[in-house]
Amino acid sequence: MATIDYRLLVRQLEALLDTRDWLTNSAQTCAFLMQMLDDLNWVGFYLQRSPRMLSLGPFQGKPACHPIPFDKGVCGAAARTRQAQRIDDVHAVADHIACDAASNAELVIPIMVNDSLWGVLDLDSPTVGRFTAEDQAGIEALMAVFIAHTDLEAV
Ligand code: SME
Repeated sequence: MATIDYRLLVRQLEALLDTRDWLTNSAQTCAFLMQMLDDLNWVGFYLQRSPRMLSLGPFQGKPACHPIPFDKGVCGAAARTRQAQRIDDVHAVADHIACDAASNAELVIPIMVNDSLWGVLDLDSPTVGRFTAEDQAGIEALMAVFIAHTDLEAV
């Protein structure tokens, strides 16, 4: 697979996010990721709108699971631990929530605002081992752009 220039994507996302509205910016960000990254079948945001519960936000892909409690699945683990979850094969994760049967690898990045969890970004791929440590670092850099350009209120 071709190497992705995440530094270029950071500059492109900075140019794309021209409001501070979380809804517009999150919709644009997941559409941008789906367009620019190879081999994804789902990308989107889950938001913490009530305590320890994730609500489905803007996304690209098939209709997805909603809501997701903090104690379930890969997204719940990212929200609970506030640590990115980079999973080579979701079928090896006992409580993985299968929304789209095409998903095999998953990367979930927590989005923190003032020490509170605003939500998570979830990326799914049909290819086992799709997400490298470099992809994780690059997508974390893109989430830093999203946070810096957006007014986010955590519950
Ligand atoms: N697989 C996720 C659920 C969200 S969907 O992949 C869009 C999980 O286990 O948390």
